Formats: sequence, C-alpha cells, structure tokens
Amino acid sequence: MALHGLMLLASLLVLLSCLTETAYGGILLSSLPKTLNVSASPHKPDQVNTPGVLLNFVGNIIAGEDKLGVVWSLNNTNFPVGTDAAYKTVNIKLCYAPVSQVGKPGRKTEDDLDKDKTCQIEFYTGPYNASIKWQYYESTLDRHVPHASYFVRAYVNDSAGVLVAYGQSTGPNKDYNIFVVSGSHKRPKMVSIWFSVFVLFFFVA
Ligand SMILES: *[C@@H]1O[C@H](CO)[C@@H](O)[C@H](O)[C@H]1NC(C)=O
Ligand SMILES: *[C@@H]1O[C@H](CO)[C@@H](O)[C@H](O)[C@H]1NC(C)=O
Ligand SMILES: *[C@@H]1O[C@H](CO)[C@@H](O)[C@H](O)[C@H]1NC(C)=O
Ligand SMILES: *[C@@H]1O[C@H](CO)[C@@H](O)[C@H](O)[C@H]1NC(C)=O
Repeated sequence: MALHGLMLLASLLVLLSCLTETAYGGILLSSLPKTLNVSASPHKPDQVNTPGVLLNFVGNIIAGEDKLGVVWSLNNTNFPVGTDAAYKTVNIKLCYAPVSQVGKPGRKTEDDLDKDKTCQIEFYTGPYNASIKWQYYESTLDRHVPHASYFVRAYVNDSAGVLVAYGQSTGPNKDYNIFVVSGSHKRPKMVSIWFSVFVLFFFVA
C-alpha cells in the first residue's frame, strides 16, 4: 500500500519536473540579447501615465488596489530600427528583487530559465507591436501578489514561439527602480465585518 503511494508520488514528481522543464527548453538568460528598454510605474489608480513621458514612480503599492504600468520599447541606443521586426509576443512578469530572495530557495535566481525562480508572477501576455514606439500596458495588481520587493522583466518570442530577447526594469545588480507591493487592506475589513456579524449573532442568540 505504502509502496504504491510512494511510486505514485515519484511518477507524479517526474511528470511535474518534465512539465516545468519543457517551458523554456534550457535557454540561459545570459544568452538572450537584452534589446528592450522596460520601465515599471507602480501608481495610484487615479494617476494617469503617459508612456514615454517619465512615469511617476511610486515606490510602494498595494496589491488589489493600486496599479502597475509597464512600458517597453526597443533600446535604440544599441540596436538599429528593425531589430524587433520579427518579435511577435511579449510576456511580462513580476520578479523578486534580491532583498526578497534572501532565505527563500523557492525564489532563487538561476541563469537556466527553466530553473530560474526570480520571475514567477504573470502580469501580461500580448502582441509585440514594433510600430508603436512605447508599448504600454497597465492593470490593477492582483490581490494575491505576495508582499515583496519587485522589478519587472519582459520576454519576447518570435512567430515560431521561440524566446528571442528580453528586457527588465532594473540593472544587472537589480538594485534600482525596485518597488514594494504590500498586502491589500481590504481583507482585514472583510474579517472585521464577519466578526461583527458573528458578535451580533452571538448576542441575538
Ligand atoms: C540600452 O543600451 C545601452 C548600450 O548598450 C546600455 O548602456 C543601456 O543600459 C541600455 N538601456 C536599458 C534601459 O537597458
Ligand atoms: C532606451 O534607453 C536608453 C538609455 O539606456 C535611452 O537613451 C533611449 O532613448 C531609450 N530608448 C527609448 C526608445 O526609449
Ligand atoms: C500596431 O499598432 C499600429 C498603430 O497603433 C496599428 O495600426 C496596427 O494595427 C498594430 N498592429 C498589430 C499587429 O496589432
Ligand atoms: C515563449 O517561448 C517560450 C519557449 O521559448 C514558451 O515557453 C512560452 O510559452 C512562449 N510564450 C508565448 C507568449 O508564446
């Protein structure tokens, strides 16, 4: 019985590792050209951002309430116009800054993208449009985003679905333009409502 369970668990683990291994096909981040400028602009819902104009950088935002804007473009100081002609899709993720990786093996950085745990939180996937100079997307941050310090990274695929380039909102040491996402204030409110209901019920009963 126990052996059976163990074997089942083992095959499940093998299956899981296969599933995660196929994701990037062993591509190393260091082998990808860093062709994109990427900026993150965490902001309050009532702040309006204009892509290309220096975005308001609020250092601290609340999951489930505040917004994250991300702008991406070809880094034209280093790469000629047309470098991005074959870019088809862009995938933007939230990535843990070093300060939020300390003591957390589940967030460890690896050059092999199949093993890398830096960027785990999906933010946006959509078409890459080379004819728009500053491509922009913004959205309210999901309330389940863990309380931590982040930067954002954009991965670009070509039409064959092969990862061909990237860019990120900080430098190689990930030590600037880092923003903090803190927990939603809304949940404790819900808890206190339920608590009030409970107390009311208790007294009525
Ligand atoms: C753009 O490319 C230049 C030249 O390689 C580099 O110094 C700069 O850091 C890049 N900018 C961004 C935002 O990655
Ligand atoms: C990309 O970033 C570099 C600085 O690293 C800047 O000189 C250049 O104008 C930026 N390009 C765009 C299209 O914003
Ligand atoms: C790219 O953007 C331009 C300008 O907004 C638009 O006319 C064009 O249809 C877009 N192309 C794609 C493939 O979405
Ligand atoms: C981009 O390519 C990688 C493999 O290179 C794949 O895992 C990922 O799903 C692709 N993303 C999109 C949006 O096509």
